[in-house]
Amino acid sequence: MHVKKVKSVILAAGKGTRMKSALPKVLHTIFDKPLLAYVLEALDKSGYIDEKFVIVGHEAEKVENYVNDNFSGAKCVLQSPQLGTGDAVSKVVPYLKDFDGYVVVVCGDTPLIEPDTIKNFVEFHDNNDADLTVMSAVFDNPKNYGRIVRDKNNKFTAIVEEKDATPNQKAIKEVNAGIYCINWKTVSEAFSNLKNNNAQGEYYLTDIVKWAVEKNLKVQSYILDNNEEIFGINSKIQLAQATKSLNKKSLERLMEEGVQITDPNSTFISPETTIEADTIILPNVYITGKNQIGKNCKIGPFSHIRGGAVIGDNVRIGNFVEIKKSVIKDNTNVSHLSYVGDAKLGSHVNIGAGTITANYNPISKVKSETIIKDGANTGSNSVLIAPVTINEMASVGAGSIITKDVEAYSLAVTRPPLRQLSNWVKMKIEQLSGGIK
Ligand code: UD1
Ligand code: CA
Repeated sequence: MHVKKVKSVILAAGKGTRMKSALPKVLHTIFDKPLLAYVLEALDKSGYIDEKFVIVGHEAEKVENYVNDNFSGAKCVLQSPQLGTGDAVSKVVPYLKDFDGYVVVVCGDTPLIEPDTIKNFVEFHDNNDADLTVMSAVFDNPKNYGRIVRDKNNKFTAIVEEKDATPNQKAIKEVNAGIYCINWKTVSEAFSNLKNNNAQGEYYLTDIVKWAVEKNLKVQSYILDNNEEIFGINSKIQLAQATKSLNKKSLERLMEEGVQITDPNSTFISPETTIEADTIILPNVYITGKNQIGKNCKIGPFSHIRGGAVIGDNVRIGNFVEIKKSVIKDNTNVSHLSYVGDAKLGSHVNIGAGTITANYNPISKVKSETIIKDGANTGSNSVLIAPVTINEMASVGAGSIITKDVEAYSLAVTRPPLRQLSNWVKMKIEQLSGGIK
């Protein structure tokens, strides 16, 4: 393939009215990651995109801050007011004056798009020396999509929006998936010729097809294999459906890699979590963010891993345990009712039921680290006030509140000594039954 340079425009200026939210649509999250990030990462992973322009408009500042903080290769371009998808793409014209390469246009609200699909799409465009390639998909119910219109020789000639379509055109099942590869040198002129004389009074990106056909340029469609990939999120119902799809894919990948998942219906594991073979995930486990989990572990039921966890082999994470941003080495158990956050646990550590790493100071807002070295153990209901270190083989007595480092091989206990009041209960009973008046 002789692909020159490929840039991308990501449409993310729309309001997303149906989300009924103060948050811009593309910043809604699946497994704590914004929809927009899924799209930007898929573009990066396709291997062809060297620069990305995110078109922002509604709540532009929030989207821009997110992009600037997380994606160095992306630049935000403001579209205000939002006059349609064609108007949106036209905003990058000043940045691409002498650009001689391809521009891939995608929507920021389609998190299921796969890197390989983008890669194959760009290669298809390039191999055919096309001027414009539109990704299409065939739907039994094509409602709301733009239709791919072909002439009697089956030549692709235009895209007609549902709202502008004739009854015959509405019957067409091949639709515009909303992803385009544009040979910028030959097609960019189209953006200064768009008109808004249509049902929505918008400047349609889709009109570049007709423009290019009239100029005798090479226009083609690329039919998508898996329709799910262009699933766009417009509502919270669709957000939940996309979450389910991503989760399903993630669980299937893990099971194919040898992870045992007892109940996929009640298990959520983010796509960025890796788990090695023969680890067992019991029901009602929620794992979000980026995590690494080793082999032969047992996780759940009812465990919550929140991201940044690096867990070794033969580790037990039991019920009602929450793990955040922590390293846990081989053969360590955190079996019940514990919170482990910003911690480093060695190997052969045993964390007693109800142990809490108190990592956060809500006044200073500082988070601190807890270190528990090899072979150490904590008794039930221990509170470890970070920053603190429990050294090798040390033991923390049940119910202790640890505010200072604990020496290797020592026992640390902070609970008051036990008092026993003999016959106290008997005395109370006698008092109540009127023994003493
Ligand atoms: C668009 C296509 C339609 C296609 C469908 C696929 C047009 C005219 N129609 O329709 O053929 O089948 O996508 O999903 O392009 N946006 C902006 N600025 C604007 C308007 C929209 O950035 O001024 C963004 C939106 O935030 C959204 C994307 O562009 O991410 C698509 O816009 P939307 O209005 O949802 O287009 P559709 O009506 O779905
Ligand atoms: Ca629209």
